[in-house]
Amino acid sequence: MWSKIQSDWPVYLLAFVVVLVIAFKISTNHPEKSLIAVKDSNWRAPSLYLDPIQNKQERELISYGKELITHTANYLGPNGSVKQISNGMNCQNCHLDAGTKPNGFNFSAVAANYPLFRDRSGAVESIYKRVSDCFERSLNGRAPDSTSREYQAIHAYILWLGKDVAKNTHPKGFGIKKPDYLQRAADPDKGKKVYAIHCERCHGANGEGQTIPENAGYIYPPLWGKNSYNTGAGLYRLSNFAGFIQSNMPFNEVSAHNKLTDEEAWDIAAYVNSQPRPIMKESHDWPDISKKPIDHPFGPYADSFSEQQHKYGPFLPILFAREKN
Ligand code: HEC
Ligand code: HEC
Repeated sequence: MWSKIQSDWPVYLLAFVVVLVIAFKISTNHPEKSLIAVKDSNWRAPSLYLDPIQNKQERELISYGKELITHTANYLGPNGSVKQISNGMNCQNCHLDAGTKPNGFNFSAVAANYPLFRDRSGAVESIYKRVSDCFERSLNGRAPDSTSREYQAIHAYILWLGKDVAKNTHPKGFGIKKPDYLQRAADPDKGKKVYAIHCERCHGANGEGQTIPENAGYIYPPLWGKNSYNTGAGLYRLSNFAGFIQSNMPFNEVSAHNKLTDEEAWDIAAYVNSQPRPIMKESHDWPDISKKPIDHPFGPYADSFSEQQHKYGPFLPILFAREKN
Protein backbone atom coordinates (compact mmCIF):
# COMPACT_ATOMS: atom_id res chain seq x y z
CA MET A 1 0.00 0.00 0.00
CA TRP A 2 2.69 2.45 1.05
CA SER A 3 4.80 1.70 -2.00
CA LYS A 4 1.73 2.25 -4.19
CA ILE A 5 1.15 5.67 -2.67
CA GLN A 6 4.83 6.40 -3.14
CA SER A 7 4.72 5.50 -6.80
CA ASP A 8 1.45 7.32 -7.42
CA TRP A 9 2.40 10.50 -5.59
CA PRO A 10 2.18 12.77 -8.65
CA VAL A 11 -1.48 11.77 -9.03
CA TYR A 12 -2.21 12.51 -5.36
CA LEU A 13 -0.41 15.82 -5.60
CA LEU A 14 -2.40 16.76 -8.68
CA ALA A 15 -5.69 15.83 -6.97
CA PHE A 16 -4.69 17.90 -3.94
CA VAL A 17 -3.91 20.93 -6.10
CA VAL A 18 -7.22 20.58 -7.96
CA VAL A 19 -9.12 20.50 -4.65
CA LEU A 20 -7.25 23.60 -3.47
CA VAL A 21 -8.00 25.50 -6.66
CA ILE A 22 -11.71 24.65 -6.47
CA ALA A 23 -11.89 25.64 -2.80
CA PHE A 24 -10.19 28.95 -3.60
CA LYS A 25 -12.59 29.61 -6.50
CA ILE A 26 -15.61 29.02 -4.30
CA SER A 27 -14.32 31.16 -1.47
CA THR A 28 -13.53 34.13 -3.72
CA ASN A 29 -16.62 33.95 -5.83
CA HIS A 30 -18.38 36.90 -4.26
CA PRO A 31 -20.73 37.72 -7.13
CA GLU A 32 -22.34 34.33 -6.74
CA LYS A 33 -22.68 34.83 -3.01
CA SER A 34 -24.45 38.12 -3.54
CA LEU A 35 -26.82 36.57 -6.07
CA ILE A 36 -27.81 34.04 -3.46
CA ALA A 37 -28.36 36.81 -0.92
CA VAL A 38 -30.75 38.57 -3.26
CA LYS A 39 -32.67 35.39 -4.04
CA ASP A 40 -32.94 34.59 -0.37
CA SER A 41 -34.57 37.90 0.29
CA ASN A 42 -38.19 36.89 0.68
CA TRP A 43 -39.61 40.34 0.21
CA ARG A 44 -40.25 41.79 -3.19
CA ALA A 45 -41.75 45.23 -3.09
CA PRO A 46 -45.03 45.42 -5.02
CA SER A 47 -44.77 47.39 -8.24
CA LEU A 48 -47.21 50.02 -9.43
CA TYR A 49 -46.84 48.58 -12.94
CA LEU A 50 -46.74 44.83 -12.34
CA ASP A 51 -49.30 44.78 -9.52
CA PRO A 52 -51.73 47.45 -10.70
CA ILE A 53 -54.16 48.85 -8.15
CA GLN A 54 -57.68 48.66 -9.56
CA ASN A 55 -59.30 51.43 -7.55
CA LYS A 56 -58.39 54.72 -9.23
CA GLN A 57 -58.50 56.88 -6.11
CA GLU A 58 -56.40 54.42 -4.18
CA ARG A 59 -53.92 54.17 -7.03
CA GLU A 60 -53.55 57.94 -7.22
CA LEU A 61 -53.08 58.26 -3.47
CA ILE A 62 -50.41 55.55 -3.36
CA SER A 63 -48.59 56.97 -6.39
CA TYR A 64 -48.59 60.39 -4.76
CA GLY A 65 -47.19 58.81 -1.60
CA LYS A 66 -44.34 57.28 -3.56
CA GLU A 67 -43.70 60.63 -5.24
CA LEU A 68 -43.54 62.35 -1.84
CA ILE A 69 -41.00 59.80 -0.58
CA THR A 70 -38.80 60.21 -3.67
CA HIS A 71 -39.13 63.98 -4.19
CA THR A 72 -40.06 65.25 -0.76
CA ALA A 73 -38.33 68.60 -1.30
CA ASN A 74 -40.44 69.46 -4.37
CA TYR A 75 -43.57 69.44 -2.20
CA LEU A 76 -42.46 70.01 1.38
CA GLY A 77 -38.91 71.43 1.17
CA PRO A 78 -37.78 75.06 1.65
CA ASN A 79 -39.43 76.01 -1.69
CA GLY A 80 -41.98 73.22 -1.63
CA SER A 81 -45.16 73.61 -3.69
CA VAL A 82 -47.48 72.43 -0.88
CA LYS A 83 -45.83 73.55 2.38
CA GLN A 84 -42.36 74.61 3.45
CA ILE A 85 -41.72 72.39 6.43
CA SER A 86 -38.46 70.46 5.83
CA ASN A 87 -34.77 70.90 5.02
CA GLY A 88 -34.57 70.04 1.32
CA MET A 89 -33.71 66.37 1.78
CA ASN A 90 -35.90 63.57 0.45
CA CYS A 91 -37.08 60.55 2.41
CA GLN A 92 -35.49 58.47 -0.35
CA ASN A 93 -32.04 59.86 0.44
CA CYS A 94 -31.96 57.30 3.26
CA HIS A 95 -34.93 55.03 2.47
CA LEU A 96 -33.35 54.08 -0.83
CA ASP A 97 -35.32 53.21 -3.97
CA ALA A 98 -38.45 54.74 -2.46
CA GLY A 99 -38.12 52.55 0.61
CA THR A 100 -37.71 49.22 -1.19
CA LYS A 101 -33.97 48.48 -1.21
CA PRO A 102 -32.62 45.54 0.85
CA ASN A 103 -30.29 46.84 3.58
CA GLY A 104 -31.26 50.39 2.64
CA PHE A 105 -33.75 51.20 5.44
CA ASN A 106 -36.68 49.86 3.43
CA PHE A 107 -40.28 50.11 4.61
CA SER A 108 -41.01 46.36 4.28
CA ALA A 109 -41.80 45.79 7.96
CA VAL A 110 -43.73 48.93 8.88
CA ALA A 111 -47.25 47.75 8.01
CA ALA A 112 -46.62 44.41 9.74
CA ASN A 113 -45.21 45.83 12.99
CA TYR A 114 -46.94 49.11 13.81
CA PRO A 115 -48.37 50.24 16.15
CA LEU A 116 -45.10 49.36 17.88
CA PHE A 117 -43.71 49.89 21.36
CA ARG A 118 -40.42 51.76 21.04
CA ASP A 119 -37.92 52.31 23.80
CA ARG A 120 -36.86 55.69 22.40
CA SER A 121 -40.23 57.21 23.33
CA GLY A 122 -41.19 54.60 25.92
CA ALA A 123 -44.60 54.39 24.25
CA VAL A 124 -46.61 52.58 21.61
CA GLU A 125 -46.08 54.49 18.38
CA SER A 126 -48.38 54.77 15.38
CA ILE A 127 -47.06 55.01 11.84
CA TYR A 128 -47.93 58.71 11.98
CA LYS A 129 -45.69 59.20 15.01
CA ARG A 130 -42.83 57.34 13.29
CA VAL A 131 -43.15 59.31 10.06
CA SER A 132 -43.36 62.56 12.08
CA ASP A 133 -40.12 61.58 13.85
CA CYS A 134 -38.28 61.42 10.54
CA PHE A 135 -39.72 64.78 9.46
CA GLU A 136 -38.62 66.37 12.73
CA ARG A 137 -35.21 64.70 12.99
CA SER A 138 -33.90 63.44 9.65
CA LEU A 139 -35.54 66.30 7.74
CA ASN A 140 -35.02 68.68 10.66
CA GLY A 141 -38.49 70.14 10.14
CA ARG A 142 -42.13 69.67 11.02
CA ALA A 143 -44.51 66.88 10.13
CA PRO A 144 -47.54 67.48 7.92
CA ASP A 145 -50.90 67.12 9.72
CA SER A 146 -52.16 63.59 10.02
CA THR A 147 -55.30 64.65 8.11
CA SER A 148 -53.41 66.24 5.20
CA ARG A 149 -53.46 64.57 1.79
CA GLU A 150 -49.66 64.42 1.98
CA TYR A 151 -49.60 62.35 5.14
CA GLN A 152 -52.52 60.19 3.95
CA ALA A 153 -50.58 59.46 0.75
CA ILE A 154 -47.33 58.54 2.54
CA HIS A 155 -49.32 56.33 4.92
CA ALA A 156 -51.17 54.58 2.06
CA TYR A 157 -47.90 54.00 0.20
CA ILE A 158 -46.15 52.49 3.24
CA LEU A 159 -49.13 50.20 3.98
CA TRP A 160 -49.30 49.08 0.35
CA LEU A 161 -45.54 48.32 0.26
CA GLY A 162 -45.81 46.04 3.28
CA LYS A 163 -49.18 44.48 2.48
CA ASP A 164 -47.82 40.96 1.87
CA VAL A 165 -45.58 40.78 4.95
CA ALA A 166 -46.93 38.60 7.77
CA LYS A 167 -47.82 40.39 11.03
CA ASN A 168 -44.94 40.88 13.47
CA THR A 169 -42.27 39.65 11.06
CA HIS A 170 -39.28 41.34 9.48
CA PRO A 171 -38.28 40.20 5.98
CA LYS A 172 -34.62 39.69 5.13
CA GLY A 173 -32.95 42.91 4.09
CA PHE A 174 -34.99 44.90 6.60
CA GLY A 175 -33.05 47.80 8.17
CA ILE A 176 -29.32 47.71 7.57
CA LYS A 177 -26.40 45.36 8.18
CA LYS A 178 -24.11 46.75 10.83
CA PRO A 179 -20.35 46.26 10.52
CA ASP A 180 -18.52 44.33 13.25
CA TYR A 181 -17.40 46.41 16.22
CA LEU A 182 -13.77 47.50 16.19
CA GLN A 183 -11.37 46.82 19.05
CA ARG A 184 -10.61 50.55 19.13
CA ALA A 185 -12.64 53.76 19.10
CA ALA A 186 -13.75 55.00 15.68
CA ASP A 187 -11.35 57.73 14.55
CA PRO A 188 -12.60 60.98 12.92
CA ASP A 189 -9.09 61.87 11.65
CA LYS A 190 -8.73 58.60 9.79
CA GLY A 191 -12.32 59.00 8.60
CA LYS A 192 -11.57 62.41 7.13
CA LYS A 193 -8.93 60.89 4.84
CA VAL A 194 -11.20 58.10 3.60
CA TYR A 195 -14.05 60.59 3.18
CA ALA A 196 -11.88 62.60 0.78
CA ILE A 197 -11.28 59.51 -1.34
CA HIS A 198 -14.76 57.99 -1.44
CA CYS A 199 -17.37 60.62 -0.60
CA GLU A 200 -16.21 64.15 -1.22
CA ARG A 201 -16.75 64.19 -4.97
CA CYS A 202 -20.52 63.95 -4.47
CA HIS A 203 -21.21 65.16 -0.93
CA GLY A 204 -18.64 67.99 -1.01
CA ALA A 205 -15.56 68.91 1.02
CA ASN A 206 -17.78 70.50 3.66
CA GLY A 207 -20.49 67.84 3.56
CA GLU A 208 -22.76 70.40 1.95
CA GLY A 209 -23.96 68.17 -0.91
CA GLN A 210 -25.01 69.61 -4.26
CA THR A 211 -28.23 71.55 -4.62
CA ILE A 212 -30.75 71.79 -7.42
CA PRO A 213 -30.91 75.59 -7.71
CA GLU A 214 -34.60 75.84 -8.78
CA ASN A 215 -36.16 74.22 -5.74
CA ALA A 216 -33.60 74.09 -2.92
CA GLY A 217 -33.56 70.31 -3.18
CA TYR A 218 -30.45 68.16 -3.69
CA ILE A 219 -28.78 66.06 -6.35
CA TYR A 220 -26.37 64.87 -3.65
CA PRO A 221 -27.79 65.34 -0.17
CA PRO A 222 -25.82 67.11 2.57
CA LEU A 223 -24.08 65.07 5.28
CA TRP A 224 -23.59 67.85 7.79
CA GLY A 225 -24.23 71.57 8.23
CA LYS A 226 -27.49 73.47 8.63
CA ASN A 227 -29.43 71.55 5.96
CA SER A 228 -28.58 68.08 7.20
CA TYR A 229 -30.27 65.70 9.65
CA ASN A 230 -30.18 66.82 13.28
CA THR A 231 -28.64 65.26 16.38
CA GLY A 232 -31.88 63.44 17.23
CA ALA A 233 -31.86 61.50 13.93
CA GLY A 234 -31.20 57.78 13.56
CA LEU A 235 -28.12 58.42 11.40
CA TYR A 236 -26.52 60.41 14.19
CA ARG A 237 -25.86 57.05 15.85
CA LEU A 238 -22.55 55.71 14.58
CA SER A 239 -23.67 52.11 14.01
CA ASN A 240 -26.61 53.23 11.85
CA PHE A 241 -24.42 55.51 9.78
CA ALA A 242 -21.61 52.96 9.39
CA GLY A 243 -24.05 50.19 8.41
CA PHE A 244 -25.92 52.37 5.95
CA ILE A 245 -22.83 53.57 4.11
CA GLN A 246 -21.11 50.18 4.06
CA SER A 247 -24.03 48.60 2.20
CA ASN A 248 -24.92 51.60 0.05
CA MET A 249 -22.12 54.10 -0.52
CA PRO A 250 -20.44 55.28 -2.69
CA PHE A 251 -23.85 55.49 -4.36
CA ASN A 252 -24.37 52.92 -7.14
CA GLU A 253 -20.92 51.42 -6.62
CA VAL A 254 -21.72 48.81 -3.99
CA SER A 255 -22.81 45.59 -5.64
CA ALA A 256 -21.15 42.27 -4.93
CA HIS A 257 -18.49 43.80 -2.71
CA ASN A 258 -18.79 46.45 -0.06
CA LYS A 259 -16.44 49.24 -1.05
CA LEU A 260 -15.70 50.18 2.54
CA THR A 261 -14.01 47.96 5.13
CA ASP A 262 -15.45 47.87 8.66
CA GLU A 263 -12.72 50.27 9.81
CA GLU A 264 -13.38 52.73 7.01
CA ALA A 265 -17.14 52.66 7.61
CA TRP A 266 -16.77 53.33 11.36
CA ASP A 267 -14.10 56.02 10.85
CA ILE A 268 -16.10 57.91 8.21
CA ALA A 269 -19.15 57.71 10.48
CA ALA A 270 -17.07 59.22 13.28
CA TYR A 271 -15.78 61.97 11.01
CA VAL A 272 -19.20 62.94 9.60
CA ASN A 273 -20.96 62.80 12.96
CA SER A 274 -18.25 64.93 14.61
CA GLN A 275 -19.08 67.83 12.25
CA PRO A 276 -21.58 70.57 13.11
CA ARG A 277 -25.29 69.98 12.43
CA PRO A 278 -28.65 71.19 13.75
CA ILE A 279 -29.18 70.30 17.38
CA MET A 280 -32.36 68.69 18.55
CA LYS A 281 -33.21 68.80 22.19
CA GLU A 282 -34.23 65.25 22.82
CA SER A 283 -34.58 65.25 26.55
CA HIS A 284 -37.76 63.16 26.32
CA ASP A 285 -36.02 60.36 24.45
CA TRP A 286 -35.19 57.05 26.15
CA PRO A 287 -37.17 57.62 29.36
CA ASP A 288 -35.74 54.31 30.65
CA ILE A 289 -32.03 55.09 30.36
CA SER A 290 -31.05 51.44 30.69
CA LYS A 291 -32.64 50.91 27.26
CA LYS A 292 -30.36 53.39 25.46
CA PRO A 293 -28.49 51.71 22.58
CA ILE A 294 -24.78 51.40 23.33
CA ASP A 295 -23.98 54.02 20.70
CA HIS A 296 -26.54 56.60 21.85
CA PRO A 297 -24.31 59.66 22.11
CA PHE A 298 -26.14 61.51 24.92
CA GLY A 299 -26.07 60.71 28.63
CA PRO A 300 -27.11 60.10 31.33
CA TYR A 301 -26.44 56.36 31.12
CA ALA A 302 -27.20 53.42 33.34
CA ASP A 303 -23.50 52.44 33.11
CA SER A 304 -20.32 54.39 33.95
CA PHE A 305 -18.91 54.75 30.42
CA SER A 306 -18.42 58.29 29.16
CA GLU A 307 -20.48 60.09 26.52
CA GLN A 308 -17.35 60.10 24.36
CA GLN A 309 -17.09 56.31 24.52
CA HIS A 310 -20.81 55.88 23.86
CA LYS A 311 -20.42 58.04 20.78
CA TYR A 312 -17.18 56.72 19.24
CA GLY A 313 -16.47 53.44 21.05
CA PRO A 314 -14.71 51.17 21.72
CA PHE A 315 -18.14 49.60 22.06
CA LEU A 316 -17.18 46.05 23.00
CA PRO A 317 -16.39 46.87 26.66
CA ILE A 318 -19.82 48.53 26.97
CA LEU A 319 -21.46 45.53 25.39
CA PHE A 320 -19.66 43.07 27.68
CA ALA A 321 -20.50 45.12 30.76
CA ARG A 322 -24.17 45.02 29.75
CA GLU A 323 -24.15 41.32 29.13
CA LYS A 324 -22.75 40.71 32.60
CA ASN A 325 -25.67 42.52 34.21
C1 HEC B 1 -31.22 61.14 7.05
C2 HEC B 1 -31.80 59.85 6.83
C3 HEC B 1 -33.30 59.68 6.84
C4 HEC B 1 -34.23 60.41 6.13
C5 HEC B 1 -33.98 61.54 5.17
C6 HEC B 1 -35.52 59.86 6.48
N1 HEC B 1 -35.37 58.83 7.35
FE1 HEC B 1 -36.85 57.60 8.06
N2 HEC B 1 -35.48 56.56 9.11
C7 HEC B 1 -34.12 56.78 9.12
C8 HEC B 1 -33.48 55.83 9.99
C9 HEC B 1 -31.98 55.78 10.27
C10 HEC B 1 -34.49 55.00 10.51
C11 HEC B 1 -34.35 53.86 11.51
C12 HEC B 1 -33.97 54.49 12.78
C13 HEC B 1 -33.93 53.56 13.93
O1 HEC B 1 -32.95 52.85 14.08
O2 HEC B 1 -34.89 53.57 14.66
C14 HEC B 1 -35.74 55.49 9.92
C15 HEC B 1 -36.99 54.91 10.17
C16 HEC B 1 -38.16 55.27 9.53
C17 HEC B 1 -39.41 54.56 9.66
C18 HEC B 1 -39.65 53.31 10.50
C19 HEC B 1 -39.16 52.11 9.77
C20 HEC B 1 -39.35 50.83 10.54
O3 HEC B 1 -39.33 49.76 9.90
O4 HEC B 1 -39.50 50.86 11.75
C21 HEC B 1 -40.33 55.22 8.88
C22 HEC B 1 -41.78 54.85 8.67
C23 HEC B 1 -39.64 56.34 8.28
N3 HEC B 1 -38.33 56.33 8.68
C24 HEC B 1 -40.22 57.25 7.43
C25 HEC B 1 -39.54 58.31 6.84
C26 HEC B 1 -40.18 59.30 6.01
C27 HEC B 1 -41.64 59.31 5.63
C28 HEC B 1 -39.21 60.18 5.64
C29 HEC B 1 -39.36 61.45 4.83
C30 HEC B 1 -40.29 62.42 5.40
C31 HEC B 1 -37.96 59.72 6.22
N4 HEC B 1 -38.21 58.61 6.95
C32 HEC B 1 -36.74 60.34 6.01
C33 HEC B 1 -33.45 57.74 8.41
C34 HEC B 1 -34.04 58.69 7.59
C1 HEC C 1 -21.53 59.10 -6.83
C2 HEC C 1 -21.97 60.05 -5.84
C3 HEC C 1 -21.91 59.61 -4.39
C4 HEC C 1 -20.82 59.19 -3.68
C5 HEC C 1 -19.38 59.04 -4.19
C6 HEC C 1 -21.28 58.97 -2.32
N1 HEC C 1 -22.60 59.25 -2.22
FE1 HEC C 1 -23.72 59.22 -0.53
N2 HEC C 1 -25.38 59.65 -1.59
C7 HEC C 1 -25.42 59.88 -2.94
C8 HEC C 1 -26.79 60.05 -3.37
C9 HEC C 1 -27.26 60.34 -4.79
C10 HEC C 1 -27.58 59.89 -2.23
C11 HEC C 1 -29.10 59.94 -2.16
C12 HEC C 1 -29.69 58.67 -2.70
C13 HEC C 1 -31.11 58.82 -3.20
O1 HEC C 1 -31.75 59.82 -2.91
O2 HEC C 1 -31.56 57.89 -3.88
C14 HEC C 1 -26.66 59.66 -1.11
C15 HEC C 1 -27.06 59.51 0.21
C16 HEC C 1 -26.20 59.41 1.29
C17 HEC C 1 -26.58 59.40 2.67
C18 HEC C 1 -27.97 59.53 3.24
C19 HEC C 1 -28.54 60.90 3.09
C20 HEC C 1 -27.80 61.99 3.83
O3 HEC C 1 -27.43 62.96 3.16
O4 HEC C 1 -27.61 61.92 5.05
C21 HEC C 1 -25.43 59.27 3.39
C22 HEC C 1 -25.32 59.22 4.91
C23 HEC C 1 -24.34 59.16 2.46
N3 HEC C 1 -24.82 59.26 1.17
C24 HEC C 1 -23.02 59.02 2.83
C25 HEC C 1 -21.99 58.82 1.92
C26 HEC C 1 -20.63 58.52 2.30
C27 HEC C 1 -20.13 58.45 3.72
C28 HEC C 1 -19.92 58.34 1.16
C29 HEC C 1 -18.48 57.91 1.02
C30 HEC C 1 -18.18 56.60 1.54
C31 HEC C 1 -20.83 58.58 0.04
N4 HEC C 1 -22.07 58.85 0.55
C32 HEC C 1 -20.46 58.55 -1.30
C33 HEC C 1 -24.33 59.98 -3.80
C34 HEC C 1 -23.03 59.63 -3.46
